[in-house]
This record gives sequence, C-alpha cells and structure tokens, in this order.
Amino acid sequence: MQFLEEVRRRRTFAIISHPDAGKTTITEKVLLFGRAIQQAGTVKGKKSGQHAKSDWMDMEKERGISITTSVMQFPYGDNLVNLLDTPGHEDFSEDTYRTLTAVDSCLMVIDSAKGVEDRTIKLMDVARMRETPIITFMNKLDRDIRDPIELMDEVENVLKISCAPITWPIGMGKEFKGVYHLLNDEVILYQSGMGHTIQDSRVIKGLDNPELDAALGSYAEELREQVELLEAAANPFDLEDFLAGQLTPVYFGTALGNFGVDHMLDGLVEWAPSPQPREASGETIEATTEGLSGFVFKIQANMDPNHRDRIAFMRIVSGRYEKGMKMKHVRIGKDVRISDALTFLAGDRAAVEEAYPGDIIGLHNHGTIQIGDTFTQGQDYKFSGIPNFAPELFRRIRLKDPLKIKQLQKGLMQLSEEGAVQVFRPLKNNDLIVGAVGMLQFDVVAHRLKSEYKVEAVYEPISVATARWVECDDEKTFQQFRTKAHDNLALDGSDSLTYVAPTMVNLQMAQERHPEVEFRKTREH
Ligand code: G4P
Repeated sequence: MQFLEEVRRRRTFAIISHPDAGKTTITEKVLLFGRAIQQAGTVKGKKSGQHAKSDWMDMEKERGISITTSVMQFPYGDNLVNLLDTPGHEDFSEDTYRTLTAVDSCLMVIDSAKGVEDRTIKLMDVARMRETPIITFMNKLDRDIRDPIELMDEVENVLKISCAPITWPIGMGKEFKGVYHLLNDEVILYQSGMGHTIQDSRVIKGLDNPELDAALGSYAEELREQVELLEAAANPFDLEDFLAGQLTPVYFGTALGNFGVDHMLDGLVEWAPSPQPREASGETIEATTEGLSGFVFKIQANMDPNHRDRIAFMRIVSGRYEKGMKMKHVRIGKDVRISDALTFLAGDRAAVEEAYPGDIIGLHNHGTIQIGDTFTQGQDYKFSGIPNFAPELFRRIRLKDPLKIKQLQKGLMQLSEEGAVQVFRPLKNNDLIVGAVGMLQFDVVAHRLKSEYKVEAVYEPISVATARWVECDDEKTFQQFRTKAHDNLALDGSDSLTYVAPTMVNLQMAQERHPEVEFRKTREH
C-alpha cells in the first residue's frame, strides 16, 4: 500500500520554453513553494553573482547560464515533485531531448509579450513524440503583454494544441490586478513587490460578489464580460485530452512577482500523471511492475570538481530502490551493487536511502554506464526511446600537438558516449568530425578536452550539412550502397554507419538513388 501511495503522489516534469521566457525564475519560485530553498534568488542571479544550484561546470558559471540538465526534488502539499531542468539557452544539446523522455509532463512557459517563440516550437515537437501532457504558463503579466485571446490563438495555431484557460488575467503591466480562476470561481488579487515570498493573496469568491467591484473598479465589469465570452468560446478543461497531449490548461501570472506559479502547481499535482509506464523490448513496464527498473537518460562528468566523478542519471520506471541493493546492468549482463546512489533534493546531492518510480537517482559511473542503459532486478528487457539526434553543426577537430592523438580519441569517445557531442570518423580519411546540435557544445567539448584530457584542440570549418544513420535490411543492397557512397560514409562513436552529406541536395539525391536504404535522423542507443 505504501508503495502505491508513493507512486501516486509523485510528479516528474520539465520546463520547456524559449530563452528568457522565465524558466529559471519559475524554477526558483517552484522551489520556494516546495520550501526547498529559504528565499528565492538562490537559483540564479546573473547580476548578484549567485548561481543556480543547477549550474555545475565552471563554464556555466562564467556565462551565468545552465548548460546541463539537473534534477530537483521537492515536496508540494502531499505530493513529491521531481523537476528536471532543461537547458533553454540559445545553444542547447541533445540532453534536452533525452531529458524529455524521462518526464511524465511538461510545463510550457511563454513570455506573454512575445508569444510562441522558435525554441518552444522545437521543444513542443519533441514533447509531442511521446504525447506528453503539457501545462502552459503565460508569464510576465506585470509587463505590457499581448492580448490573452490572441496568445491562446497563437498557441493553438502554431503548436497545434487546444488551450483551456484555467485562470484569466485581470489587467496587465502596472495595472495587473490578479486572475480569475474559472474552475474555482474566485478572483485572486495580485500584490506587486512580493516576488521573493509566498504571498497571502486576497481571494474574492464569486464573480457577482460586490467586493469585486470595490477591489477592481471598472475591471470588475470588464472581467464579467470576458468570462461570459470565454464560457461560450473557450475550450473547457478535459482531463482525457490533457493526458493525451491534445489540450493544455493555461495559467496566467508573473514568475518575477511570484503570482500564479502556485495555481499552476495546484493544476500539476491535480491533473498531471503520476509516473507513467515505459516501453521495453516490446513490453510495457508499469510503475507497479514487479522489480526495480530504470533507464539512464543522461551522463554528466565532473559535476563536483572536488570528486571528479561521473554521474549517470537514471529514471526509475518500476519498483523501489533501496540503498545497497543489487541491480542488473542489462547491456553488459552484470549484477552491480549500488550503495551510494544520489538524489537531488533541490539540486543538492544527498545519498539516497530509497527511491520510487518517477524519481531520478544518480549512479556513480566509472565508464561502464552509457546513455540509454537499462537497469533491472535480473530481467533482460531494455528500455527503448532514448535517441541520438542527427547533429546539425559540424567541425573538423585538429590537435595543436599531434602526438596527443590517443588522448584526443579517448576524450572524444568518452564525451560522445556521454552524449555531449557526436564524433564521426570518415571511411575515406583520418579526419575526426565533431557534430553537435548547438554551437555551445563545441566550446564545451574543447573546454572539457583541455581540462579533463589535457589536449588542446582547435576546430576547423568543414563542408558537412547534415548526417544520417543508414540501415538496410538487405545485406547485398547495403554492400552496393557502401561501395557507391564510400566517400560520404563515416562511423560514429558506437561504430554505426553514417551518411555524411555536404549539402541537403546531396542527401536528397542519395536518398532518391538508394530508396531501399533507410536514412535515419535519430539513432537509438
Ligand atoms: P530563462 O531561464 O527562461 O532564460 O529566463 P529567466 O528566468 O532567466 O528570466 C529572463 C528575464 O526575464 C530575467 O531578467 C527575469 O528576471 C525576467 N523575468 C522572469 N519572469 C518575469 C516576470 O514575470 N516579469 C518580468 N517583468 N520579468 C520576468 P534579466 O534582467 O534578463 O535577468 P536577471 O539579470 O534578473 O537574472
């Protein structure tokens, strides 16, 4: 019974947003509500010199941004929430994509002055691959924003998801008065300048309440008209559609003013799903399936410079983790005893005694764990759906000191095994091509090669537009393809064959010429 209760009360989610929409600020406030930090402001302050608890690497600190994904666990009411941080910066890596495979719902944060921006579109495409339920927070109501109806229309048209407003804003900018909660039939009044605390908001019950006119003046009548309109025209909230990823409940507020974040959290714990099943070798593994199981969606080296360690992040899918238990590392077929897994309470690491489905635990990795690896209690299934994405940017990497080629290869192999970057070795020459999804990854890799592997490498431009993993059922046809396309073929970090195309047109022609060959944009680990 206790196990079921632990599963039921867990929510594991991530925030998807365009840079600057307010993800960090919301994370701060969410943790404040979780009483996990005393005062908001400790997550990030580019100006104050404080840094996000989730910023691990020097480079991130220097730049005041969060490149890596971190994990924060906090209680909210009776629930236990796991928030997986996704890098939202201009340059973001495949980690973001894979993090989304480890959550059961997403919070989409939109800058209400700007509307739907391109990073959000990309991330929504990813979230949709698994039909992840999405909650929407329209942020920055303390500024002059766009018309709320127009904002919802844009979400519906651009992101192809229906919007069901749960709260509705009253005024905006300096005149932002608060929100009307459509389901609870109450107005919650906003007080400015209270962003660093949990506010005791004044609540006025009922739209017809004369108190409303006293508190809101002419906004009261306007609100009544708008609500009438909404009740006729807006989608009502539908749990089933939400769970299918087809409808998103929409909240309005200001993260900076810490207003509305709690409304959203209330929705999250009420409606977002508790830990969901995952597919493994054709089976569906439920949270309640017997035996512990989980998959690794991220590996992070040197999280703690004092320890120089590598941590593998495992999402628990089923069963209960207990300190000191044995797990089977399915890919290498070995049992390992895990006595020092970590949890991430509000971003601080702590040894974990027990953990449940939906939780993320950190396993110390001595080079044996790879992204996508499955751990079980003896069973042989393997979780699927943790992909590598074809990189979009390419550079040739060259050593300053050619004698260090061994270290370079080792470094690149380890970093590609971590998923930090992808490495391609062309069949036709001895080049090493580094492929990345975002520009920043190149800097990260150069920085890490230098600090962790003591090699100084420089990048050179190379005329590669894209890469595709190639596969073919028919061995003979594939052999012919290999001969014909030899000069465009390369091996990636795990020796999978890849077609490296100088231009998109070249790729298109290769696909037309070899219709039997599959050109894949993603590769499963
Ligand atoms: P991100 O993680 O999504 O990139 O966004 P972040 O929270 O860092 O917010 C980006 C900027 O927007 C920050 O200002 C932040 O203070 C501001 N912001 C966030 N939420 C709100 C809001 O509800 N209202 C208003 N008016 N501003 C908001 P900054 O000056 O760029 O950053 P900082 O120097 O304060 O860190």
